[in-house]
Amino acid sequence: MTRGAILSGLGTWLPPQVVTNDMLSSELDTSDEWIRTRTGIGRRHIASPGMSTGHLATEAARRALKSAGTDRVDVVIVATSTPDRPCPATAPVVASALGLTGTGAFDVAAVCTGFVYALATAAGLITGQVADSALVIGADTFSTILDPRDRTTRVIFGDGAGAVVLRAGDRAEEGALRGFDLGSDGTGVDLITVPGGGSEQRLSGTEAAPGDQYFHMDGPQVFTRAVRYMTGSVRKVLDAAALAPEDLAHLVPHQANVRILDTCARELGLPAERVVKNIDRVGNTVAASIPLALAAGAADGRLRAGDPVVLTGFGGGLTWGSALLTWPGGLTVIDG
Ligand code: ACO
Repeated sequence: MTRGAILSGLGTWLPPQVVTNDMLSSELDTSDEWIRTRTGIGRRHIASPGMSTGHLATEAARRALKSAGTDRVDVVIVATSTPDRPCPATAPVVASALGLTGTGAFDVAAVCTGFVYALATAAGLITGQVADSALVIGADTFSTILDPRDRTTRVIFGDGAGAVVLRAGDRAEEGALRGFDLGSDGTGVDLITVPGGGSEQRLSGTEAAPGDQYFHMDGPQVFTRAVRYMTGSVRKVLDAAALAPEDLAHLVPHQANVRILDTCARELGLPAERVVKNIDRVGNTVAASIPLALAAGAADGRLRAGDPVVLTGFGGGLTWGSALLTWPGGLTVIDG
């Protein structure tokens, strides 16, 4: 037997407040028609005042633990770029809220690629025998960092959380993570960024440029790079496993924009129905995007035990990454 990391639980949580395209159109110069045709998004969930990323993460994690039939893990990793506080990490607070005080806990920041990076980290801890189990949570509340007047970002992002439990097992069994590809290009730092509030441009003691506390994105530049980096990364992770795109049962991509997903599918030669999409219902939920899409693909019965599935993401940094796994049998997803 070769030691591997096995997906054994999956849970999600979306804040109850739903914001439709028509609601956004009543306060911004946009329309349901523009948002649907340019992004594929119909609605998104938004955290209410006082509801933090840690809150969303805890709710999703509770459901993932229940799905895995356990209340203990050796390590808790939260992928987020909207932590509860700039310091410390959100993961220790989430771990304690779950009754896991004393458990190793830390955050991973890779924006929309955060969940894939956190999954790779957890799998490495398990195969390296540092841990026998891990809780990996992707959670973000981007609504808290968007400029309320910016129609290009307000229409895209939604809040949410998704979590998985990994356990040690045999690399050959169903549910095993079989390979990863991770990449970055820091020369693209300005394409997806919150410029103010870090150690580079401090919000106290210096005069921050107006609006620098908000999220900024160069949409068209991000669009073309997202396609290039995600398709390249999918090919790399498949090549390493001696698989071709046509061997793939399903691709579960970061839900950035439906046109990005369709272009990736076309470039990889994948039929549209092999790409899992739930962006119409949740928008771009950043680190939560991939686990929420996994749950959607499992719920509609598309992801079946033994299927080779690739998760792929792209985001700020710039960062990108993919994971190959065999879909587990007998997984009960718990949504909230
Ligand atoms: N409603 C109406 N019109 C709009 C809106 C809106 N919400 N937003 C932009 N427009 C206008 C623009 O002002 C522009 O008008 P102009 O031609 O008069 O100048 C026109 O629409 C076209 O603008 P573009 O920015 O070229 O529109 P595009 O088709 O590229 O769509 C979008 C913009 C949706 C942002 C797209 O570029 C995109 O999805 N990019 C990728 C975003 C992404 O994937 N991000 C993921 C990473 S983010 C992360 O890591 C956190």
